[in-house]
Amino acid sequence: MRDNAKYLNKLNIDGRVCIVTGGGGLIGKKHTEAIVEGGGIPVLLDIVPFGMERVKSEVKVEYGDDVVIETFVTDITRREALEKVRDELLEKYGHIDVLINNAANNPKVEDGSKNLAFNTFPAFPVEIWNQDIAVGLTGAMLCAQVFGEVMEKQGKGMILNISSDYGLISPDLRIYRKEGIPEEEQTIKPVSYSVVKHGIIGLTKYLAIYWAQKGVRVNTLCPASLENGQDEEFIKKISNLIPMGRMSDPDEYVCTVLYLISDASSYMTGSTVVLDGGRTSW
Ligand SMILES: NC(=O)c1ccc[n+]([C@@H]2O[C@H](COP(=O)([O-])OP(=O)(O)OC[C@H]3O[C@@H](n4cnc5c(N)ncnc54)[C@H](O)[C@@H]3O)[C@@H](O)[C@H]2O)c1
Repeated sequence: MRDNAKYLNKLNIDGRVCIVTGGGGLIGKKHTEAIVEGGGIPVLLDIVPFGMERVKSEVKVEYGDDVVIETFVTDITRREALEKVRDELLEKYGHIDVLINNAANNPKVEDGSKNLAFNTFPAFPVEIWNQDIAVGLTGAMLCAQVFGEVMEKQGKGMILNISSDYGLISPDLRIYRKEGIPEEEQTIKPVSYSVVKHGIIGLTKYLAIYWAQKGVRVNTLCPASLENGQDEEFIKKISNLIPMGRMSDPDEYVCTVLYLISDASSYMTGSTVVLDGGRTSW
């Protein structure tokens, strides 16, 4: 890379306050790394503390003890909890620059999680539907209201909503079936996951238009098929559905995230960026 590159400094987010909901999860750590590499201040929001503490300590080991990472144990479905975070951040930093709406209930069906409690669509409990919509859609909407209003007043801000390839296509339910397991023990990917991931793209488009002339950009990233310790049978079945023939490494999202939350993507709003190895193309 050239020392006198003219454009790459647009990826610099020095000192920008960047909120990541669900910051203690698998991809939350990758968003945190993107923010740290760009020079920003990650602010992790999660309903449970231990994931955030793990992310914080691992990122500090990788990048240095001087890295500042804020953490808030927060339920994003509660507006008053978000307002408290907003007030604390504004008091300490005076600005909020980026929101990554990343939190969602994301049951690992491929691991045969026994607590899913359903194996057909008609048996899918409305209680789980309500919880999933509350976190994945209502939580994202509330975060956009509370933190987006600050960005609107500042005349600048970026919101990145995390969807999935399942925000564009249906899960292929066949890949979640396990050989040699009785029908009543088979599980399916919940319908709420599809609805939340499709819905978040609608939220992006609405907000992108709403704030288009106010300096607040809103985009969607669709990650897909992250390899994270799934069994061989599942990896083989899903890889067959992907033109590139493999699952993704969580590290493969980091540069795109930094691009999307920085001025490098200054003309992009309302867009859906898909990193799926080609899965939604055929
Ligand atoms: N992992 C994948 O394969 C994959 C693929 C495509 C898209 N995604 C999307 O990426 C995002 C992150 O996925 P992940 O795999 O890191 O999930 P994850 O389950 O590891 O992390 C989600 C985090 O959200 C937190 N959370 C849940 N409810 C909350 C609430 N009410 N308030 C605050 N935090 C709450 C959880 O505690 C958890 O730490 C999700 O939106 C998911 O749909 C994941």
